[in-house]
Amino acid sequence: HRSEEDNYDHFFKIVLIGDSSVGKSNLLSRFCHNKFTLEFNSTVGVEFISKTLNIDGKVIMVQIWDTSGHKKVRAITDAYYRGATGALIVYDVTSHITFLNAQRLLADLWNHGDPNIVVMLIGNKSDVRHSVMVSTEVGKSFAEKESLQFVETSALRATNVEKVFIDIVDEIY
Ligand code: GTP
Ligand code: MG
Repeated sequence: HRSEEDNYDHFFKIVLIGDSSVGKSNLLSRFCHNKFTLEFNSTVGVEFISKTLNIDGKVIMVQIWDTSGHKKVRAITDAYYRGATGALIVYDVTSHITFLNAQRLLADLWNHGDPNIVVMLIGNKSDVRHSVMVSTEVGKSFAEKESLQFVETSALRATNVEKVFIDIVDEIY
């Protein structure tokens, strides 16, 4: 007997990666619960949230994994990547170092992950217009060079957040 939760056509694991404080957890909570938290609570350990999406008449169960981007506690290990069909590499458009680290994480991902993993580059905090350090053009051209989809988001304003998750599921599917 299958429970209600097991009633899906496809199952996709998607991992969130990127430096600490770029907004990974808020992208996730915005998408799953339409919730945003202004104060910074760095993620402890590894968490995941499951959500079902209906695409083309199919029920798709997505399990989205989140962990801290803090170097010291970074749990980016083989276990984190294992079975992942998609990865969202997130940087903060107001912090150039997070963009450089996103490039390193991409290299890391190719080493750890399934070579068929679908990767998307996300420039978050697009609402903070006055202190943009990584322009849309710079993000876009890096993504193009690496053949990745690229989206700028704001977890705060809920801009493009749903689009990111729908697009990556679409591309995996
Ligand atoms: P770690 O768990 O440490 O890896 O950080 P994280 O990437 O999960 O970042 P988190 O989602 O906790 O957000 C960090 C801080 O940035 C919080 O204070 C959020 O309120 C803020 N933040 C997240 N997304 C946005 C956004 O789109 N716009 C703005 N202005 N702030 C954001
Ligand atoms: Mg977090």
